[in-house]
Amino acid sequence: MCGIVGYIGERDATPIILNGLKRLEYRGYDSAGLAVLNEGNIEIRRDAGKLNHLEALVRNTPIHGQIGIGHTRWATHGEPNERNAHPHLGSTGEFVVVHNGIVENYLTLREELSAEGTRFNSDTDTETIVHLVEKFYASGANLEAAVQQTLKQLKGAHGIVVMSSREPDKIVAARVGNAGGVVIGLGEGENFIASDLPAILEHTRRAVFLESHQMAVVTRDEVRVTDMSGWAVEVKPQNIAWDPVAAEKGVYRHFMQKEIHEQVRSLTDTLAGRVDFDEGRVMLHELGLDPQSAREIRKIIITACGTAAHAGMVGKILIERIARIPVEVAIASEFRYADPLVDEHTVVLAISQSGETADTLAAMEEGRSKGAKLWSIVNAIGSQAMRIADGCISMQVGPEIGVASTKAFTAPLLDLYLLALHLGDLRGAIDEDRRFSLVQDLMSVPALVGECLDREQAVAALARKFKNTRHMLYLGRGINMPIAYEGALKLKEISYIHAEAYPAGEMKHGPIALIDRSMPVMALAPNDPWYDKMISQIEQALARGGDVIAIATDGDELIADLTPNILWVPKTPWLLSPVITTIPLQMFAYHIASLLGLDVDQPRNLAKSVTVE
Ligand code: AGP
Repeated sequence: MCGIVGYIGERDATPIILNGLKRLEYRGYDSAGLAVLNEGNIEIRRDAGKLNHLEALVRNTPIHGQIGIGHTRWATHGEPNERNAHPHLGSTGEFVVVHNGIVENYLTLREELSAEGTRFNSDTDTETIVHLVEKFYASGANLEAAVQQTLKQLKGAHGIVVMSSREPDKIVAARVGNAGGVVIGLGEGENFIASDLPAILEHTRRAVFLESHQMAVVTRDEVRVTDMSGWAVEVKPQNIAWDPVAAEKGVYRHFMQKEIHEQVRSLTDTLAGRVDFDEGRVMLHELGLDPQSAREIRKIIITACGTAAHAGMVGKILIERIARIPVEVAIASEFRYADPLVDEHTVVLAISQSGETADTLAAMEEGRSKGAKLWSIVNAIGSQAMRIADGCISMQVGPEIGVASTKAFTAPLLDLYLLALHLGDLRGAIDEDRRFSLVQDLMSVPALVGECLDREQAVAALARKFKNTRHMLYLGRGINMPIAYEGALKLKEISYIHAEAYPAGEMKHGPIALIDRSMPVMALAPNDPWYDKMISQIEQALARGGDVIAIATDGDELIADLTPNILWVPKTPWLLSPVITTIPLQMFAYHIASLLGLDVDQPRNLAKSVTVE
């Protein structure tokens, strides 16, 4: 989705903004632009396509100034061309705006403004915003009040940043709803504005996050946060621990490959401080649970989208098996409109790496409105899903840049295992011996993931063999069924190969008709309680002429006799096996996409943070 960067200080704003936008490239975009204020005039450079187009434009026709705003746009209204790229100027050339979100009533506003004589220069919904600001300013409001009055006219969710040559010592930023974040980075004699932290982390680690219906007037030396009526709001700056170097690609060809390889570390960090291996205990203080509050929970509804929902499906099995609490998994975009059966004994648990997914946030709000307790498992520090939850388990994976989620999938798998243990312990659903042994099983997980990563060459060889396939079926059962869904999603989102996943038992009810030589089958058959069922499924696929790739446990001679195409994984306790079986599937999808020469980190049509419905 769109990215925003703003700067005000003593330095040249142009390189700071361009650099910040680069750090947001991972969000996906199709045009980019920036505006700086120079000797009382606003100058703009914009171009369609990737940031290198904009950089070339700025090299050929430089612009400089000490205050500026920039944007990467993911087209919603109007083609991704220069005239629709942000920033958008008003009619007088004195006001300029960048915007994340959708102005749902923009057609009405456009008609009204046109009737008053306003000429539009783009097809965007955003341009209505700058004309409204200009109009309210002309009628006597100052910049801050003009932005407030404008926001009252807009339907939908928005993050906006406005600059004006009429008030050249400030930038005004505002957030309404969940169209992505607005974060203000605090410097010395300079301040930064962004939609996401990576854009500003190289300059500062102190940041203020705007809540919905808050705005900030940002000058060189001051950040004043108010509500939408202009009343001051007290905010506490947060210190951010992320290392910006961690956001660099390093020795890897793609961020996705780097992030796959970071999983030994991210999973180690996930356990750190939360597991006492000597005592066999899990500590999740962030949820503030005691035995009584844990016993009061009658149902957990896990809500999420895409990859995060697949983690939730594994979580259902873990929590039900270990803590014996009924769990439902609800796709957030459905749950928000489902009029769900939720009460004060229900926990709605949202999973989201970005913490800004509009559907997931709406699902949380739906749960809240019906009296549920809200928990979340989130990666992006300070994001909305982290802030609105009653308790949040923070993923310890650092920034994930590749659009295809990898390390932000395996971390919540472990988080959910820890949650299941914590709840099971507090509710007395597991005895001490079982608890101790389930905790000990965690110890080897990072090393087992490392063993899988060491086998990358074997995965790459199979990727070479199957790279020209146009379709694939992914099959799994039980706790590895969600991993079949996740493996298929990884393949389709980055390689554009059609991949479908099924619970293997469903094959006989229809999908088996698809199997022939042109339909390879990826069968998840590790040593888990569903192993025998998977063997019979593999045999059925082979009998129909299909090629089978099996994910199998080291030493499994039976599978070795059935198919030459095997992605071996080390032996793992079955409740933890999804963390391990996922790894070869991530690498398989990565290598196929990479062999096909595709844009692995920024696949077409996709964004890292889906802040629209
Ligand atoms: C992951 O590879 C996908 N790009 C996508 O399904 C993603 O998991 C989904 O959009 C949810 O995102 P979130 O975790 O930021 O909420």
